[in-house]
Amino acid sequence: MKTIFSGVQPTGVITLGNYLGAFRQFPAFQEQGNAIYCIVDQHAITVPQDRLDLRKNIRALAATYIATGIDPEKATLFIQSEVPAHAQAGWIMQCIASIGELERMTQFKDKSTGKESVSAALLTYPPLMAADILLYNADIVPVGEDQKQHLELTRDLANRFNHRYGDILTIPEVQIPKEGARIKSLQEPTKKMSKSDTNTKATIRFLDTAKEIEKKIKSAVTDSEGIVRFDVAEKPGVSNLLTIEAAVNNVSIDDVVAKYDGLGYGAFKAGVAESLITHLTPLQERYYELIDSPELDQILDLGAEKANAIANKTLKKMENAMGLGRKRR
Ligand code: TYM
Repeated sequence: MKTIFSGVQPTGVITLGNYLGAFRQFPAFQEQGNAIYCIVDQHAITVPQDRLDLRKNIRALAATYIATGIDPEKATLFIQSEVPAHAQAGWIMQCIASIGELERMTQFKDKSTGKESVSAALLTYPPLMAADILLYNADIVPVGEDQKQHLELTRDLANRFNHRYGDILTIPEVQIPKEGARIKSLQEPTKKMSKSDTNTKATIRFLDTAKEIEKKIKSAVTDSEGIVRFDVAEKPGVSNLLTIEAAVNNVSIDDVVAKYDGLGYGAFKAGVAESLITHLTPLQERYYELIDSPELDQILDLGAEKANAIANKTLKKMENAMGLGRKRR
């Protein structure tokens, strides 16, 4: 049976990019294997967080996982900081990684360029991410395209560890969705849709109301050609909207192009908004049922217990192989 692992940062309401790149893929794995999903709060603190917001966002993210289809009977859902082995194995992976390879990570360059001071953890974040994955012997890691480089580094670090200390870690494969791996900003469709975008019109959020979704899609940047066709280089805005509808309705881009054949951008945008609203409304309803329920705490307690058991076992193997502490049987 395959093990699947993925994580999301609790840094505010997830975007449509997070949803289509990651969450949309998650439920299918719980039917096929041992699916483990994490709320990576230790990753979130690589940039300063307000403590009350962070607490709220952790809970909101847990509700989002369940509302979007994670079944706690079939999958494990837990909070990273409740499983200390992550920080411990993260340290080990920092000792395996070189500064040069961490400095080459595009996400580090994007987040640090032009900043006067950034945390050391922004640089050493990928070894912690590698630890997240490797502790569970994950075979498959479903993520959006922006995490691909971190996954390649994870594979390199795992191979390096195995080469030095014996065949202990499983080398994971990345899995990126066919449609929706890189959802773009609605206002600058050559840039990725990002949680931290300050332009609220650029980003659709999981909890946006029908009215907000309609408004944001209506004001999405397109072009003056007036023809609905897919061409990322020439028509990034229209192509992004086509990708969104294809991913939401689980159809091909060609099917969506055919649907709007001969129609103008007004009808196209109204249709994309309608598809989104139809898809998101029941998920939002489930979210609001869950957010204040004690059920959520029970799920997270059980998840932490299951995750600790697996992670501690791998950590012990790693420490033994490296000669840390005293030999344990
Ligand atoms: P995070 O929290 O930034 O994003 C969560 C997931 O959403 C995907 N994503 C997107 N997909 C498509 N289009 C977009 N515009 C878009 N924006 C974000 C991301 O690829 C990701 O799958 N480092 C990770 C969290 C992490 C992790 C892990 C993931 C920590 N440890 C172990 C997998 C395995 C991150 O910051 O994701």
